[in-house]
Amino acid sequence: MTVPADQTELRDIVRERYAAAATSDRCCRSDADTCCASAVITEEQKAFFGKSHYYDQDRASLPESAVVASLGCGNPIAIADLYAGETVLDLGSGGGIDVLLAGRRVGPTGLVYGLEMTDEMLDLARQNQAEAGVTNVQWLRGHIENIPLPAESVDVIISNCVINLSGDKPRVLRESARVLKPGGRFAVSDVVADSNMDDATRSDMQAYTGCIAGALTRDEFTDALQAAGLTDITITETHRVHSAAASAIIRATKPGDTSDTGAIARGPQQETAAACCSTSAQATCCEPSAKGECCDSEIHAAGACGCSASG
Ligand SMILES: C[S@@+](CC[C@H](N)C(=O)[O-])C[C@H]1O[C@@H](n2cnc3c(N)ncnc32)[C@H](O)[C@@H]1O
Repeated sequence: MTVPADQTELRDIVRERYAAAATSDRCCRSDADTCCASAVITEEQKAFFGKSHYYDQDRASLPESAVVASLGCGNPIAIADLYAGETVLDLGSGGGIDVLLAGRRVGPTGLVYGLEMTDEMLDLARQNQAEAGVTNVQWLRGHIENIPLPAESVDVIISNCVINLSGDKPRVLRESARVLKPGGRFAVSDVVADSNMDDATRSDMQAYTGCIAGALTRDEFTDALQAAGLTDITITETHRVHSAAASAIIRATKPGDTSDTGAIARGPQQETAAACCSTSAQATCCEPSAKGECCDSEIHAAGACGCSASG
């Protein structure tokens, strides 16, 4: 099947494939490695997508069905440096793994929205949320091309292997810029295509729903982020996912006054305390003795900051 030119038709096919993935993941909870994600990615691709990108401690903290349902190509939680009290939006939240982990990072004073178009994924995410016992999250049914949130309402946008699936990626990035607060951060994992990706791959619908064929090149991504008004753009390749594409960490910032962002409200101690590392890495690397200094108000919130097992 070839990739249709019509965006509605394209979106419907993507939705059908991910609905099938959500349903199959739910059936296959006890045998994840053999059947997870078979509706959207090939056996070969399973090595590059999904749960392997997460820290053991994070995986162990979630219900198995949330981990199994992971279909991303990276770990946006590890790159976003979330702070207590922040408002986060996950574009294409799927079974909810990143929303649930982000909910724990931002703690009881923060909020995480999971935006998703596929009802079966939203059902799965709600079920995973109930099992995980994370309460500071809200699921939004909708499209990433038309984000159902007011302007300047979000501190951080995360996403894991979703923007490549959109039929209108520049619009997704403009919408992202609209809902970010001034000073807000865009920190996503996505697939970036080599400039020489061949036409056969580009037009293959299986490669499209598998997050390869629709990927922007690095230059296209940069241009679209710039056109959306975002700055400080970096695109860092992490691992190959195809002979003509790689997974990448994509970061950008919305320019402007940063006084209203959670990051600034939290203060600069995260960067300056010698024993502190990024929030995402604290789970495994900060010294227990530094927990109070690093974690600040998160110190008593289970799972919200690192060192909780020993600190
Ligand atoms: C590759 S999966 C990734 C899911 C999740 N981020 C993860 O890491 O497991 C892509 C998800 O994005 C959703 N999606 C794709 N296109 C979308 C769109 N235009 N608007 C909203 N959701 C979309 C799909 O339904 C699917 O759940």
